[in-house]
Amino acid sequence: MLSPLSRVLLSLLTLPLAFLANGAFAATPNVLIFTATTGFRHDSIPVAVEALQQQAERANVNWTHTEDSSHFNDGALEAYDGVVFLSASGEVFNDQQKAAFQSWLNKGGNFVGIHSATDCLLKTDFYRREIGAYFDYHPDIQEASVNVIDPGHPSTDHLPRPWIVRDEWYNFKSDPRDVGAVVILSADENSYEDNGPRNPAQGTPHPTAWFQERGAGVEEGQTAGRSFYTSLGHLNETWQDETFMTHVLGGLSWALQSNTTRAFNASGVVGAIGDPSDTTASGDSTSQTESETETSLTEVANPSSDTTTTDDGAESSAAHSTVSAAVGLFTILNALHLVHREL
Ligand SMILES: *[C@@H]1O[C@H](CO)[C@@H](O)[C@H](O)[C@H]1NC(C)=O
Ligand SMILES: *[C@@H]1O[C@H](CO)[C@@H](O)[C@H](O)[C@H]1NC(C)=O
Ligand SMILES: *[C@@H]1O[C@H](CO)[C@@H](O)[C@H](O)[C@H]1NC(C)=O
Ligand SMILES: *[C@@H]1O[C@H](CO)[C@@H](O)[C@H](O)[C@H]1NC(C)=O
Repeated sequence: MLSPLSRVLLSLLTLPLAFLANGAFAATPNVLIFTATTGFRHDSIPVAVEALQQQAERANVNWTHTEDSSHFNDGALEAYDGVVFLSASGEVFNDQQKAAFQSWLNKGGNFVGIHSATDCLLKTDFYRREIGAYFDYHPDIQEASVNVIDPGHPSTDHLPRPWIVRDEWYNFKSDPRDVGAVVILSADENSYEDNGPRNPAQGTPHPTAWFQERGAGVEEGQTAGRSFYTSLGHLNETWQDETFMTHVLGGLSWALQSNTTRAFNASGVVGAIGDPSDTTASGDSTSQTESETETSLTEVANPSSDTTTTDDGAESSAAHSTVSAAVGLFTILNALHLVHREL
């Protein structure tokens, strides 16, 4: 029989134990939408950003949107679990910004590229590897049939087979499979007109969307996050299409589930910092009611808003998490000792 004191102590134990068993500080992942363009500018960018914002709850992410390349610095990037290059184009980074992005990828950051993101940073090899391949050319916009090569992926498991889509049918300069990507969607080349010349280097079947379990932009020996790319998304109307939105959000949530970042992993070094008092496992999408109400879209327009106070806040919050975990463990060990004596 347990003494009353033991029973009280045992009941006190269940809270910290539940917390430790989950092994994660629940947090809503922070995701940066980057839409800078120095090359072609898609007029669907505002529609796309708005569409993603409207899906914040369903995607369970805290979006930040910027066109400001200076946001790519170590301090600001540290807050993000994922970065989405949404129809970005051209040479959007200087060397410092490239280095900061590379460093974030090395820390397990997860990447999503959409549409003309393959026509971006054309002289930056780690970026080519991270996204998988560079855009070559496209024929006129038209309807085509898309074959679902892998229906087992969260970005494709809902798609009709075949999926009939009106969009631009991108050709690529190389085969994303060369850097380890798995092609999951393929435009059926017999279903639309392309007078070419097609570069055979892009491989077959025709790559249209793909993923990388380890984003290949990572440097040797560093922590790789995941990478997902879809070449679709040219038109405004595409961003109002439920099937397409599920495709994009499925790719994003799959990328975040690499679990290499803070929202999903207490040892992560980039990403959102969880609340140690919240014992909800962040990977469990069925119990997100609290965080759902907090999701929103932050616009970053002013470069000077990336202040070091954000970094200090992040660090002290991380230290707080560590201290809380240590205190929790100490409480458990101490209580176990007391229980043992009482028994
Ligand atoms: C797409 O939407 C944007 C923003 O509402 C608008 O300016 C643009 O004209 C639209 N493009 C087309 C082709 O309708
Ligand atoms: C959302 O992300 C921004 C970073 O861009 C951060 O400042 C803010 O605190 C986050 N909001 C929540 C509710 O986590
Ligand atoms: C947690 O994150 C660290 C740092 O990114 C990584 O090394 C580790 O593999 C991650 N753990 C899991 C379970 O993914
Ligand atoms: C990440 O964590 C979730 C929830 O625990 C799990 O379902 C998923 O398989 C994990 N992903 C990886 C790559 O281990």
